[in-house]
Amino acid sequence: MKIIIINGPNLNLLGKRENDIYGDESFNDFFSRLDAMFAGVELSYFQSNVEGELIDKLQEVGYSYDGIILNAAAYTHTSVAIGDTVKAINTAVVEVHISNTFSREDFRHNSFISPNAKGIILGFGLQSYELAIQSFLDD
Ligand code: DQA
Repeated sequence: MKIIIINGPNLNLLGKRENDIYGDESFNDFFSRLDAMFAGVELSYFQSNVEGELIDKLQEVGYSYDGIILNAAAYTHTSVAIGDTVKAINTAVVEVHISNTFSREDFRHNSFISPNAKGIILGFGLQSYELAIQSFLDD
């Protein structure tokens, strides 16, 4: 099974960014642990701070992969374009957030991804990604 995690802007700063909200671990360290946890899954990871690069990656994998785990970060709340891409592609997208966006500022309550996501997992810290992988395996 081929699954990709796609992370949006500032998620490359995990471990040094607002640690009270996002924790102390870098995504690279977390990804190594995650990869080891799911030995049977062909897991890959892409991060970009650039909206168009996220769209290009979604288009590239969106017709051949078995699952996409997308944390579009701040673009979740602003990007009609990424929302359109999620709608356009064939591969199921699980939307993930580290924090519970509904317990934060109002502008984080809207998502352009959610209407076309297979499901949404948020608020479990980095474990949100683990639960998302599990959801594809249990399917
Ligand atoms: C986030 C929540 C977003 O509101 C925020 O802009 C992020 C991270 C999360 O994973 O909790 O950068 O997507």
